[in-house]
Amino acid sequence: MKSIQSIVVCGAGTMGSGIAQVAIQAGIKTIQFDLSETALAKSKAQIHAQINRLVEKGKIPESEQNHILGLIHFSTDIADCKADIIIEAIIEKKEAKIELFNKIAAFNDSTTIFATNTSSISVNDIAVGLSNPSMLVGMHFFNPAPIMKLVEVIAGQQSSSTAIDRVIELTKTMGKVPVLCKDAPGFIVNRVARHYYLEAMEMVNEGLTDIESVDAIMEATGFKMGPFKLMDLIGMDINYSVSNIVWEALGKPERLTPSTLQKEKVEKGLLGKKTGEGFYKY
Ligand SMILES: NC(=O)c1ccc[n+]([C@@H]2O[C@H](COP(=O)([O-])OP(=O)(O)OC[C@H]3O[C@@H](n4cnc5c(N)ncnc54)[C@H](O)[C@@H]3O)[C@@H](O)[C@H]2O)c1
Repeated sequence: MKSIQSIVVCGAGTMGSGIAQVAIQAGIKTIQFDLSETALAKSKAQIHAQINRLVEKGKIPESEQNHILGLIHFSTDIADCKADIIIEAIIEKKEAKIELFNKIAAFNDSTTIFATNTSSISVNDIAVGLSNPSMLVGMHFFNPAPIMKLVEVIAGQQSSSTAIDRVIELTKTMGKVPVLCKDAPGFIVNRVARHYYLEAMEMVNEGLTDIESVDAIMEATGFKMGPFKLMDLIGMDINYSVSNIVWEALGKPERLTPSTLQKEKVEKGLLGKKTGEGFYKY
């Protein structure tokens, strides 16, 4: 099986930036594409800062620093999106992902793999809109991508076994642990974790507790991050959108109803760390 030699990461936001960093740390030539110059500049600064920190900590030899940073090229030109695999981490909208993949597929080889980092959109639903559905696989990284070891690999009904095997191989090359999942709403983690967020917001909404207490208690029980801090890290818009997609895909069960508290935050643009305020101020 031919190993992946080049990667395009579409989207330079929270996830795209982290995934691109993971790719270059694995020694793979990477292009990061975004429509926004500002997002690319921010991602570039972040990747440089992160690699520099790892060098300072002795986790990356200083002799490799320039080589690693030289592996990435940032672009707003879609024509640069040519590689063995295209990993998208753009907005959580099915139509946007389909449109992007089809545009890119038009000038890539038939062997190019298309991987979606969607948190909640069905891989089969994206595949329906694609010109090359057998090359689509879900590759769900967690936030922050350079630190979190798990990657859910989602096989769609039409995904070819070669595409799945190559994504699993790439995940391992990136130093991550692939877990093969079926294409069900929220896959595994985002379905099970819904209650972590929703019940926490419901308790605050009912006036039973406050956000700081919930976070402190959950962290004291062993969770790395309380639900409110985690929602701020993930991004309120992304988390709210995932809640809606999972809820709708499962037939709107009452137990998974999205929270009005989170809806208000999204409407006010209080999206968490990325905007400087969410449940907390940064
Ligand atoms: N935030 C998380 O914790 C998390 C975790 C796992 C998966 N995801 C998934 O990853 C994806 C991205 O999430 P994020 O949090 O990084 O979002 P984000 O809002 O931080 O970044 C999205 C980026 O995509 C760019 N973009 C939008 N449309 C584009 C297009 N058509 N072409 C190129 N670039 C485009 C935007 O300019 C922005 O820079 C979503 O599908 C989300 O569900 C998010």
